[in-house]
Amino acid sequence: MTTTDADTVVAAFVKRTGRQPEGVWAAPGRVNLIGVHTDYNDGFVMPFALPQSVTVAGSRSGGDTWSVTSLTVPATETFGRSDLRPGMSGWVAYCAGVVWALTEAGHEVGGAELVLTSDVPRGAGLSSSAALECGVLTALADLYAVDIAPLARAQVARRCENAFVGAPTGLMDQAASTLCTSDHALFFDCRSFDAEQVPLDLTAAGLEILILDTRTPHELVDSEYATRRASCEQAARILGVGALRDVVDLDAALAQLPDETMQRRVRHVVTENARVEAAAHALRAGRIADLAPLLDASHHSMRDDFEITVPTVDLAVDAARSAGALGARMTGGGFGGCILALVDAGDGDRVGHAVATAFAAAGHRRPQWFLADPSPGARRLD
Ligand code: GLA
Repeated sequence: MTTTDADTVVAAFVKRTGRQPEGVWAAPGRVNLIGVHTDYNDGFVMPFALPQSVTVAGSRSGGDTWSVTSLTVPATETFGRSDLRPGMSGWVAYCAGVVWALTEAGHEVGGAELVLTSDVPRGAGLSSSAALECGVLTALADLYAVDIAPLARAQVARRCENAFVGAPTGLMDQAASTLCTSDHALFFDCRSFDAEQVPLDLTAAGLEILILDTRTPHELVDSEYATRRASCEQAARILGVGALRDVVDLDAALAQLPDETMQRRVRHVVTENARVEAAAHALRAGRIADLAPLLDASHHSMRDDFEITVPTVDLAVDAARSAGALGARMTGGGFGGCILALVDAGDGDRVGHAVATAFAAAGHRRPQWFLADPSPGARRLD
């Protein structure tokens, strides 16, 4: 938890430098409630932030050198301004890329000594990399009094991911880590960047959200993600629209597409955008339970039309639904990772055990699970 992690990074910072840090910051991972592969199609998404975060203790060190110690890896990496070239690899690229992207955007930050830790599960579709980017960015921006609005922070972090690390992602993960608030989901328009906090008070509604990590390796995830994105962009070009967000008549659009696979990709994006809007409508009215059929439909669309689920994920969703989850779907970019299930209050652990039993029967590794509380976005802790 954050308090413990803050104590841990401060103690490690003091041990390493002999001084107290100038500050401590945290940036969360996220779970995407609904709106999958819609962000880079200029569509809608609805993530909320997790309590699991990257926590950073840091001080300015002057000069042009950054030293970052990860207690999670564990390792210390040092880089200077001349090292800031896209293509750097490993976890430190997410830190160096933030300095690079801040500089590219006209924000000057000097050297720093940072010590960080993370309790965001890695490779599980919960945005551990966006949490790392946003944690480092929040620390550096604060240390050097950089005047940068929350949305611009998310855009800088995304530029790090796209142009420095080289992953062609949309803006959702960084927007979630930066903009989310407690007890709310973020209804985010990825074209206009309008951000609406929609209430998600699960306790008041007598509900829980279970996040279950199938611990399925994310094989091929990078190439499959890029392929899906390219297919969407090609379809938009054929349809003569700026992005699939602009498709208004789905049947007419499908009739113009050359092959069945592309038709299914487009149907997923268009129907998923409609589901996110329906979810926002339900949450604004305080009807959280109305999310359940939307979650189910989203999963079916990911499985059958966008084809980004894998058998373990489908098994987890089916087992959760059979055990009484009100609705369930994969969350994250796909090809493994976590599912989320909306369940009655007090039922989450039982549903988790039911999925574990189904996994054992099928010979899969035991899944891990926790209940998710909609939590605050990136911030200074101390
Ligand atoms: C990953 C990307 C996001 C988004 C999702 C799929 O998390 O980083 O930009 O495209 O996949 O919804």
